[in-house]
Amino acid sequence: MLLALETSCDETAAAVLAGAGDLRASVTASQASEHAVTGGVVPEVASRRHLQTIRSVAAGALARAGIPVEALHAVAATAGPGLASALLVGFSFGKALAVSLDRPFVAVNHIEGHLLSPFFGREEIPPAVGLVVSGGHTLLVAVDGPSRYRLLGRTLDDAAGEAFDKVAKLLGLPYPGGPEVERAARQGDPQRFLLPRAMKCSGDANFSFSGLKTAVRTLLPRLAPGDVPDVCAGFQEAVVDVLVHKAVRTTLAERRRVLAVSGGVSLNGRLREQLLAAASAAGLEVLFAAPELCTDNAAMIAYAAHHRLSDPASVAGLQADIAPSLGAELFAG
Ligand code: KG4
Ligand code: ZN
Repeated sequence: MLLALETSCDETAAAVLAGAGDLRASVTASQASEHAVTGGVVPEVASRRHLQTIRSVAAGALARAGIPVEALHAVAATAGPGLASALLVGFSFGKALAVSLDRPFVAVNHIEGHLLSPFFGREEIPPAVGLVVSGGHTLLVAVDGPSRYRLLGRTLDDAAGEAFDKVAKLLGLPYPGGPEVERAARQGDPQRFLLPRAMKCSGDANFSFSGLKTAVRTLLPRLAPGDVPDVCAGFQEAVVDVLVHKAVRTTLAERRRVLAVSGGVSLNGRLREQLLAAASAAGLEVLFAAPELCTDNAAMIAYAAHHRLSDPASVAGLQADIAPSLGAELFAG
């Protein structure tokens, strides 16, 4: 019975997991409406809100799971990457709880949480290539088993979700922009504005999305308000095209049969549709994280911690510190 805490950005989340697949509770308090006022996350505001809500979110998860705090066998929390002042809240709370209960503490990499989320519930992790597409990260990773990863490629500038959020802001759509751009794109013509597919044919597994955002900015002076759906559709098509092409190509190059897709952007319907079509044409299986596990949540942190605990040598415990930029080093190899 494991309690996991997640406070890396603007969601305060706690989950209780028993074994690999028995999710007893997953509670998420989102601050998105507060950050909508400023059009993005203000770290100091996020950190204070985490501090105000972490105790009730953790208590809420335990209550929903129907267990007293003493029934916990371990406590896990996200160590990074994320906003330092936000990470500190869940991480310190988790450590204090683990010490007071005299239970193991497990520091978890947020990206590992996303990466493993398509396998949620499974005790075994099959060899796969993982595509993590979120607001903070865009990476392709070879998954050789739990805690055995190799970074294959990553964005060299903006993450895919960040590009959605920035383009939404340029077009006057609310934060977070991904779902808004997708909604507008449904009424738009993806062929009207043909936007660049940066690095699509670079021959490696890296990405670049900042030029796409600049391309949208240069369109702005000649746009009429009615053009927004067409710009959204053209932008979404460009992002999806590059993600699908590189993910499938990399999975085949790695001689893997499974492509595991996770992170907030993987909620995008057009991305799912195009990935399924391209993967089936290439003879690959695509596994998507369940929708409730795509955006930030603590269930995925609990699941990653579960796998770490089954290999104690892989656990970073109470001696670990938060690591705001922790990321690629986990995947070095
Ligand atoms: O995984 P996540 O909750 O946070 C990070 O760890 O970064 O991802 C949030 C990101 C935001 O950039 C949001 O705009 C994007 O996921 N997103 C979407 C969609 N839903 C959320 N992007 C495109 N289409 C969507 N439907
Ligand atoms: Zn995330």
